[in-house]
Amino acid sequence: MKHAVVTGITGQDGSYLAEFLLSKPEYVVHGLVRRSSTLNRSRIDHLTIDPAFRDRFHLHYADLADSASLGSLMDQIKPDEVYNLGAQSHVRVSFDQPLYTADVVGLGTLRILEAVRQLARTKPVRFYQASSSEMFGSAPPPQSLDTPFHPRSPYACAKLYGHWQTVNYREAYGMYACSGVLFNHESPRRGESFVTRKITLGAGRIKVGLQDRLVMGNLDAKRDWGFAGDFVKAMWLMLQQSEPKDYVVATGETHSVREFLEIAFGMLDLDYQDFVKFDPRYTRPSEVDVLLGDPSEAKNVLGWRPEVDFQGLVKMMVEHDLELARREKHLLEYRPQ
Ligand code: NAP
Ligand code: GDD
Repeated sequence: MKHAVVTGITGQDGSYLAEFLLSKPEYVVHGLVRRSSTLNRSRIDHLTIDPAFRDRFHLHYADLADSASLGSLMDQIKPDEVYNLGAQSHVRVSFDQPLYTADVVGLGTLRILEAVRQLARTKPVRFYQASSSEMFGSAPPPQSLDTPFHPRSPYACAKLYGHWQTVNYREAYGMYACSGVLFNHESPRRGESFVTRKITLGAGRIKVGLQDRLVMGNLDAKRDWGFAGDFVKAMWLMLQQSEPKDYVVATGETHSVREFLEIAFGMLDLDYQDFVKFDPRYTRPSEVDVLLGDPSEAKNVLGWRPEVDFQGLVKMMVEHDLELARREKHLLEYRPQ
């Protein structure tokens, strides 16, 4: 059996990656979870309770801020593959919590790389780092690995540190370590404060009458948005090659927040302009205006292709969140008085 450790298993990508790995009978998946006063495992509950995965899906307490927990788990599990997806992943929040973000996202990557390096003395182990298109920041599009990085947030600076540490561990110690520079990827499991999910949740609730406005920031920003379920396959592919290498993973298309709004509201026969209000609270001290990735290496070398297109992604999220809104309304209407 192949043992894979996944940090950030309770997040959007962690849940899709766990599903994907478990769909391969040779994998045992070990997810690292943080202790919290309430359980936040809704994205992976279906895997935990599925009897088919009882012996192949395990959760362990650990934290990227805690080297000891990472070291002892590497020692105990002795994984073949490590996927480092854990992060304080919200760009706007990183301006409010720059030191915490640097610790978990930047130093956290170094902590797990060190734990993996110790293990690599005794057995082969492959490492994937969840790097980000945010690292390109204000660099003009299209962005590829030949584009100079120009990060525009504490989050992006911390990710860039993690990226270069990954490259350096590969070069200095000969480790099989890869950095996947992934552009934005979304899904019905996307965190509710990221822009796409905020829009589809808001549109659904407006449609059924639970909400009458949606308060947003900069609508002119453009992103290269793909489907998270497609993107986790590229992570796995990166660890199955004969040589370790970094890749850009993107769709190669860019759309503005305004366009996302138009399409999402349009799918519900609504005009977003009737409902969207501006609040500077949702802007950033320094913005990333346009992200547009060049995924040719991922296509040519890994054979990776995104399967869900932009329209398909918006539709998937809108339909999911309309159903959620309908259920919420139903519960409110039938609540005992
Ligand atoms: P997400 O939904 O925000 O999930 C983040 C995960 O990290 C959660 O499981 C979270 O645990 C965990 N985490 C947070 N702090 C931690 C800590 N101190 N120790 C251990 N785990 C911690 O993020 P995502 O969208 O799945 O993204 C996955 C990774 O890819 C992140 O590193 C993100 O920065 C990166 N990335 C994402 C995108 C994208 O568009 N989604 C693009 C490029 C790169 P809790 O559930 O306990 O909070
Ligand atoms: N979150 C949010 N909320 N963003 C808004 C809003 C709003 O109300 N209004 C406009 N935006 C704009 C932001 O200013 C940004 O330009 C864009 O929408 C996308 O914001 P997010 O969805 O929060 O994502 P992000 O691009 O900043 O970061 C995501 O993608 C990165 C990869 O490029 C995160 O997933 C990061 O973790 C990831 O690395």
